[in-house]
Amino acid sequence: MTIEETTEAPAAVVPGTTGPGSGRAFDVERVLAALTLEEKASLLSGLDFWTTQPVDRDGVAVPGVMVTDGPHGLRKQAESPDHLGLGTSVPATCFPPAATLGSTWDPALLRRVGEALGRETRANDVAVLLGPGINIKRSPLNGRNFEYLSEDPVISGELGAALVAGIQSQGVGTSLKHFAANNQEADRMRVSADVDERTLREIYLPGFERVVKKAQPWTVMCSYNKINDVYASQNHWLLTEVLRDEWGFEGLVVSDWGAVRDRVAAVAAGLDLEMPASGGRTDAEVVAAVRAGTLDEAVVDVAARRVLHLVARSLPALDAAAASGEGFDVDAHHALAREAAAAGTVLLKNDAVPAGSSGDGAPLLPLASADGVAVVGELARTPRYQGAGSSQVNPTRLDDALSALRAATGAEVPFAAGYTVDGADAGSGTDAAALLAEAVEVARAAGTVLVFLGLPASYESEGFDRAHMDLPAEQVALLEAVAAVNPRVVVVLANGSAVSVASWRHLAPAVVEGWLGGQAGGSAVADVLLGAVNPAGRLAETIPLRLEDNPSYGNFPGELGHVRYGEGLLVGYRWYDARQADVAYPFGHGLSYTTFAYDGVAAEVLRPDATAADDDAAHGAAVRVRVTVTNTGDRPGAEVVQVYVGDPAAQVQRPERELKAFGKVDLAPGESRELTLDLTGRDLAYWHPVLRRWVVEDGEFVVSVGASSRDLRGSATVVVDGEDVRLPLEPLSTVAEAMDHPVVGPHVQALVHGGGVADDMLGMIGDMPLTVVADFGMGGFDRDALTALLAEANN
Ligand code: BGC
Repeated sequence: MTIEETTEAPAAVVPGTTGPGSGRAFDVERVLAALTLEEKASLLSGLDFWTTQPVDRDGVAVPGVMVTDGPHGLRKQAESPDHLGLGTSVPATCFPPAATLGSTWDPALLRRVGEALGRETRANDVAVLLGPGINIKRSPLNGRNFEYLSEDPVISGELGAALVAGIQSQGVGTSLKHFAANNQEADRMRVSADVDERTLREIYLPGFERVVKKAQPWTVMCSYNKINDVYASQNHWLLTEVLRDEWGFEGLVVSDWGAVRDRVAAVAAGLDLEMPASGGRTDAEVVAAVRAGTLDEAVVDVAARRVLHLVARSLPALDAAAASGEGFDVDAHHALAREAAAAGTVLLKNDAVPAGSSGDGAPLLPLASADGVAVVGELARTPRYQGAGSSQVNPTRLDDALSALRAATGAEVPFAAGYTVDGADAGSGTDAAALLAEAVEVARAAGTVLVFLGLPASYESEGFDRAHMDLPAEQVALLEAVAAVNPRVVVVLANGSAVSVASWRHLAPAVVEGWLGGQAGGSAVADVLLGAVNPAGRLAETIPLRLEDNPSYGNFPGELGHVRYGEGLLVGYRWYDARQADVAYPFGHGLSYTTFAYDGVAAEVLRPDATAADDDAAHGAAVRVRVTVTNTGDRPGAEVVQVYVGDPAAQVQRPERELKAFGKVDLAPGESRELTLDLTGRDLAYWHPVLRRWVVEDGEFVVSVGASSRDLRGSATVVVDGEDVRLPLEPLSTVAEAMDHPVVGPHVQALVHGGGVADDMLGMIGDMPLTVVADFGMGGFDRDALTALLAEANN
């Protein structure tokens, strides 16, 4: 059927050309009704690497739109496309990657970063920015951790939602990725993440769920890997039952680039758009399947409608931007990138240096002045500011910390490279020993020495995982040599995920985790070192003492095509807390140049009968937490107040405590503020693996408020009138379970005790299935009695 043949529907398109700014709007339903099966199938894969398929024939004009990477900046490739960041792209602001943004714990800031990203996307005629990535940092070794926000789903979800809302406020879309359980790069295109449903529901999916429910990303990108043996791209449970039916996702699912193995199965599972182009091969497979009757054309219609809707909703902003020739404010975006990088910088350590030969009793930071300060480390001059791969942005400019320190202070600031990093030219004729010797001399002559250390690009990237958590050996050797001649050492780190600090941190009274700061990271670090910005970043991932302590150790990255998520729910701090294991720096940790006091931690149950379905503010808070925070120092600063919940008496194993809410508050010296943080019913719930639904159990919950997962400043216990969770009794239920049953329990107890079983014998028969007791005919209890008992119990 062509559009001319429809009698009741007038023209499906607004006539005109298909160029930007010329009014390309179209009516999705009318176009869909006008398309042939072949045309509909063609919409379901790309035209090329980055563009959706257009349809352009008599009466129907659907333009193709461009989608492009990546999370922390636009990677629009003018020519030679690739998904590994190899080819060049147009200049765009390189905001800090997610590792840094995650450490801000600041949704309002991420919303502003998102708005700026959206403006750049729109100004470049791009319909969808392929991000944010919100996969959980299961192992510090994941080569792509720099692109992810946290080891915790609440942080990932809250910050991810803020980014999505910000970007989409500009009339362009996002792609929430990589859905799901893509927590490593090794074998990422094939590996099966073998993970139980409860762990998926409580750890790996809820970040996605939160973003979908709060911000409705225009698209979700499925991951490459399998989940329990089913490719994400072909996973009906994931892409349709969970994502759409349960969470209410209204957008389109796009494949990761090259993630589709069986196109027909993928369409049936709910994968709408395959990227990049398949040269028509998979479109033909879809058509053939419909003709053969193995794929319902209605399913193709649904997917084609979603593609049309995506194109239609992006045209107004793109056309308006093209018509006005709008660009973006390079300076303002650079300034925002600098603000965000400083906000994500975490002051790990800032010990007072005892009065004596090397100190005056004060910590080294903030630097009192630049006088006598020297800088060591190539990374101060040649910054590592983003990760490699598909997210690699071509920055509009690039700040380095050395120049920034010099510019901010007007001081000369002596410098020695100390080592080389990938691609850095430390000067000809130098070798490692000479670089080290030069750095030692610079350090010896300095009052305070800033030592810049970090991971070279060759250590962490999309496409492969790290082999260990260590800094390059020559960098640690440099630190040791410097500290031997000058104990007033500040280490500044540049890395995309946790590095080992245990072997060297005693050498530096102050350690600053700068992550990968984006194009303005150099100035941002200078802002923090000089005290122009009071650090307020907090760790969104634990820094363990040893790689071997990490929960995924032994189960990462898997073997023979499978990776077993053996640690289950105990990811990140949940694991270290369960084992009461020491860590180098705990989740949520971060120091300030001021100090904060917490008072009056209280929790009040507002809705005692809250259920797990109450998962948003619309239902009202279930529990309200209050705390008063005071800035007890002499500088303005921001504190991140963290609320953790534990359910000590649950029927199932639950983590010791889990982050459920947080708030960042700016306080002037001496200022106090009361914060109110609300918990929903869902914040108290766990996923019941047998009932396969969320459950809020009856009873006590412990609400703790603190400055990190290990620095709890107060707690309160609340009692909630939740469910008395019971599984139906069945033949394989045990004697103990039957004795505990509210209806038949007394009867069974009487039977057991009447049968002469003494209390100290109960342990022996308590675990016996009822059916076995009946088969033995113990105490006259037979199969008929069992049937009657079950009927009574389950009615
Ligand atoms: C990455 C995605 C990216 C896509 C397009 C893939 O290799 O996993 O995150 O958006 O390439 O470059």
